[in-house]
Amino acid sequence: MTIQKVGVVGCGLMGSGIAQVAAAAGFHTVVREVSGEIVEKGLKNIDKNLARLVEKGALDESKKAEIRGRLKGTTALEDLKDCDLVIEAIIEQLATKRELFSALDGICQASTIFASNTSSLTITEIATATKRPERFVGLHFFNPVPVMKLVEVVRTIATDPAVYEEMVAFGAKLGKTPVRAHDSTGFIVNRLLVPYLLDAIRALEEGVGSIEDIDNSMKLGCGHPMGPLTLLDFVGLDTTYYISNIMFDEFHEKRFASPPLLKRMVLAGWNGRKSGRGFYDYADPQKPKAMKF
Ligand code: 3HC
Repeated sequence: MTIQKVGVVGCGLMGSGIAQVAAAAGFHTVVREVSGEIVEKGLKNIDKNLARLVEKGALDESKKAEIRGRLKGTTALEDLKDCDLVIEAIIEQLATKRELFSALDGICQASTIFASNTSSLTITEIATATKRPERFVGLHFFNPVPVMKLVEVVRTIATDPAVYEEMVAFGAKLGKTPVRAHDSTGFIVNRLLVPYLLDAIRALEEGVGSIEDIDNSMKLGCGHPMGPLTLLDFVGLDTTYYISNIMFDEFHEKRFASPPLLKRMVLAGWNGRKSGRGFYDYADPQKPKAMKF
């Protein structure tokens, strides 16, 4: 493996998780955010996760210090110049991602591999903002990144097979199970997950069952860790709405069409757990209460 130093752009929920697992896997990791405040918030989240692992006996203090020692926060994109791999986990906006990669293309060495953590945008369209589409892949992680065992490794028609195999190996080195996916909108997981989540909303709209009963059905009847409406609140209703619109635009299939209730909840700012309200009210985060519509 030629990867030794990893750059992560974005230190939010996904970026901080990716930086944590990269540093834990032994890679020197630089994580960049637009403000020092957001960098600090992300690093604090990592500290909290590592402290919890020490509490549980899954990590000792010296290993924790080693991991932390491999992690550096920055606000300067130039600090990523000697990274062997740069993984982007910023806002899901094509123009912003293209702008970022175009800037990185001028900063990083020609050998650096670029990866996007996008969940729904077309990797090919992001890669063409650079002069290295053959060294560009998708690395799609799942929330919460330190816990979820999967990474989708996405290749475009332009990705160099050797670069792709290196990224599959990198995913395994992070302790994840890499799955191979083509650059088809939504890849594997969201192709299957999004219609399921949207159908749960349609079932609620049609009065098939209550919020709790729909969630309990899939939790207790199918062994899912969370029911679909709880999962929607966890992923973010705005995020799901955004992904479903992109998938609908691509495939023009009803199963990807956003149900009217989802649109209205997003318009009302009820984006799920992060906004305090979605299908549940999180006034007491330990005891979410199902909303009444
Ligand atoms: N960061 C780090 N660790 C976390 C965590 C976080 N944010 N949240 C939970 N954990 C750890 C806990 O510390 C705990 O560890 P322990 O058992 O060793 O003490 C373990 O995960 C289990 O947590 P809890 O006991 O608090 O709660 P649960 O048993 O309900 O597990 C969950 C929480 C792991 C989130 C579980 O409910 C789950 O797997 N839910 C489904 C999540 C999912 O489907 N994610 C994918 C979303 S789709 C996506 O990301 C793609 C995008 O494109 C839309």
